Amino acid sequence: MTSILEKGTQSNQTKSATVVDKNPLNLAASWYVAMLSKELGKKPKAIQLFGQDLVAWRDKNGTPVIMERYCSHMGASLAIGEVKDGCIQCPFHHWRYDNEGNCVSIPDIENIPPTARQATYVIEERYGYIWVWYGTSSPLFPLPKYSAAEDEKHNYMSWRFSFNTKGTVPLLVENLHDSHHLDPVHTLPCDSIQLTILDEQHSSPQFEPLLKKAAWFSSLIEARIKSYVGPLGAIAQVLGFKGIDYSHRTESWPTGHIGTSFLNGEVAVKALIGTTPVAENQIILHELFMIKKSGFFLLNIFYYLFFGWQNQLSVWEDVKHWNTMKLRRDGAYVKHDRGVLKFREFYQSWVNKVEV
Ligand code: FES
Ligand SMILES: [Fe+2]
Repeated sequence: MTSILEKGTQSNQTKSATVVDKNPLNLAASWYVAMLSKELGKKPKAIQLFGQDLVAWRDKNGTPVIMERYCSHMGASLAIGEVKDGCIQCPFHHWRYDNEGNCVSIPDIENIPPTARQATYVIEERYGYIWVWYGTSSPLFPLPKYSAAEDEKHNYMSWRFSFNTKGTVPLLVENLHDSHHLDPVHTLPCDSIQLTILDEQHSSPQFEPLLKKAAWFSSLIEARIKSYVGPLGAIAQVLGFKGIDYSHRTESWPTGHIGTSFLNGEVAVKALIGTTPVAENQIILHELFMIKKSGFFLLNIFYYLFFGWQNQLSVWEDVKHWNTMKLRRDGAYVKHDRGVLKFREFYQSWVNKVEV
């Protein structure tokens, strides 16, 4: 597929010497969530992503396509067009574009101008999301594998949600490498808390393809929880959920991560986090949370409600801060911030790979 970047390069060469900042949102070359799969039906849909106006639609195989929204002819919105014979048809003069953005027909015209084309993005549809690659004409690493969501034995129960928030992509993703906000923000009273930045020897096999491309960053938080608090905590305490060894392992790529929480050494839950940079200071956080089943039906219901709500509430606790804080990169840092600072270096290395 032709990328937005290729098209952008051509048009800027011909336009003028105006300096155009092609990456004003300081985005990393990486995979982002464009939307939930279920949000895209048969009709084209207007979306905004990376600060750009785009259109999403499905071709004749049902495969998603994301392309520039405004027609290369006179700029009509393809989002109010129709899909005909597997192509998107512009509503204004009925030019048709295929799933690679090529104009394939113009009524009563035989020779299609070479500039009659729409730039497209590389797409993958997986885990109930439509993912889009940003930054280079083809992906520099594969979309990470989330084995809990592919588990054919159905050992997990899924809980999916998203939050609109202010902030930036790295702010959202670095949160899991920031061990010292857990007690103040998430009221997780711990006797001790320790963060270890993991090296490649600790990578899970599913992350090998990312590791090879230096697109993997991981940390482990280990804590001893004294007790849970709040209404859910009261239930947890009745059930004896106290004095627990808690650890959380986060395996990040530049714009998302897969996390695993262990209670007393056993896997309890897993989470896939993806990010959607809509425009400046406008982000959507998506989470597909997977709760490990026990052997008992009623206990499963309790686990589902307890872990599901607790997790969604805890993301909401972060969102409150993201919505009200002023980002500063010149802050005063201490040793507790090394996970965040290391992650920012990693993120920036992928911003630097964006082709301009
Ligand atoms: S503006 Fe799209 S076909 Fe004319
Ligand atoms: Fe948090």
